[in-house]
Amino acid sequence: MAVRNILGIGAGYVGGPTMAVMAARCPDLRIEVADIDEERVRAWQSGRPPIYEPGLDEVLRRGLGRNLSFTSDLPAAIRRAEMIFVSVNTPTKVFGQGMGMAADLQHWEATARTIRAHAPGPRIVVEKSTVPVRTAEAMDQILNEEGTRRFEVLSNPEFLAEGTAIRDLEEPDRVLIGSAETPAGQAAAAELVDIYARWVPRERILTMNVWSSELSKLAANAFLAQRVSSINAIAELCEISGARIGEVARAVGMDRRIGPRFLEAGVGFGGSCFRKDVLNLVYLCRHSGLTEAADYWHSVVRFNDHHQARFAAGIVSQMFNTLVGKRIALFGFAFKADTGDTRDSPAIRIARALVEERARLVITDPQALENARRELADLADRIEFTDDPCEAARGAHAIVVVTGWRQFAELDYGRILATMERPAFLFDGRNLLDAERMFSLGFNVVPIGSPPRLHFE
Ligand code: NAD
Ligand code: UGA
Repeated sequence: MAVRNILGIGAGYVGGPTMAVMAARCPDLRIEVADIDEERVRAWQSGRPPIYEPGLDEVLRRGLGRNLSFTSDLPAAIRRAEMIFVSVNTPTKVFGQGMGMAADLQHWEATARTIRAHAPGPRIVVEKSTVPVRTAEAMDQILNEEGTRRFEVLSNPEFLAEGTAIRDLEEPDRVLIGSAETPAGQAAAAELVDIYARWVPRERILTMNVWSSELSKLAANAFLAQRVSSINAIAELCEISGARIGEVARAVGMDRRIGPRFLEAGVGFGGSCFRKDVLNLVYLCRHSGLTEAADYWHSVVRFNDHHQARFAAGIVSQMFNTLVGKRIALFGFAFKADTGDTRDSPAIRIARALVEERARLVITDPQALENARRELADLADRIEFTDDPCEAARGAHAIVVVTGWRQFAELDYGRILATMERPAFLFDGRNLLDAERMFSLGFNVVPIGSPPRLHFE
């Protein structure tokens, strides 16, 4: 019998948008989303989601009151569901064995135990969270008591990127479905294929064994993170050689084997997943005795750490080796444009380094100020926050662009410069602004991946 009632557990950046898009694309299915965080549930259910994501409000509104609802009553929701997607958080462990590297699976396991306790009959459990290889097997053992098989566990990793989540969900490059290679496993996979096939072309839905599916997710994030570290490593060489990273990236990306995307040099990668997932991969390799493979992937994260520290150090050295008492405007705090998410944002490290140098920091961001305040709560008395970038720059010695928000590119920098201290610096960590134009306005411009343009030697 075809699945009619679906439950998503975890109403975060993945669970909320994923289930909202599924509800929009499958009006005949009843979709519930459950979370232990009651405040989050209330926000979703009221149509004002707790996260900023372009296009989300509309998709959410379409589903609410029709076939989409949010609840914090997990037992009741589990009893009603025939298929359960799990999108709970799987952060890096901050304690015990594997601390700082391995994935913390406590939320996944707690969810599995809740499902086992309340599901009245056979269920399909879909692992959407990013997890180490063989997690589905462990979950299968937790869910299925000896001698009785009530649950089929599928792997269905999510590839959405924040800021483009709705488009990524509506038109995914591919959907992965990993299952046990048994008749029951294949039947469960077929049910899930039928759901996605309502809006995703069948040739983009890949079925495979469960371990390949789990590992493909980690591998994809590792490849993407590696690309960012690679382009930033070339950018460093550009800065001292007279080459320009924009020109090099274009030339390299025109090779069809390489492709043009994900070649933007900047302040290094951030976000809740790249660091976590690459370190998870490193841990898996090291744990399996694959030392060289572990070292190889670890270098992607190590380089990113170095690159961010180097960017902050460059600000100090360009500004005559002292920031004491200088006002510095940080343009952007989100880990990338079009999101309010600040988890592992490069801005955190940069802000802390500048405060350490005793600069007076002013932070502006169109969506992430609340998260920025929370992230830097311990430095509250040393940082100002404003949603007006012109106000942030008033009286500043430097502007540091950390997030590539389009709004920042549209400001009147001639007028902004007139309100700043001289010499005025512009550190463009996203190559968002035209360096030559900014230089001709009077800024001392320090871009990423091309030599600085200074009005003095
Ligand atoms: P998140 O922290 O935004 O959301 C997770 C939600 O799960 C929270 O609302 C939390 O309250 C809830 N939760 C935790 N334990 C629970 C429990 N026992 N019962 C019910 N709810 C519980 O995390 P996220 O960014 O949505 O990421 C979720 C997973 O998806 C992670 O494994 C992540 O690696 C993966 N992922 C994230 C992205 C992304 O862009 N953020 C993209 C692809 C994959
Ligand atoms: C990333 C992946 O792109 C998604 O496919 C994946 O599902 C997700 O991680 C996840 O597993 O969480 P996300 O972190 O939301 O998505 O955003 P990205 O667009 O990948 O950017 C990650 C970081 O790399 C950002 O800090 C961004 O500014 C940086 N980046 C990206 C660059 O510095 N240069 C680039 O060319 C691209």
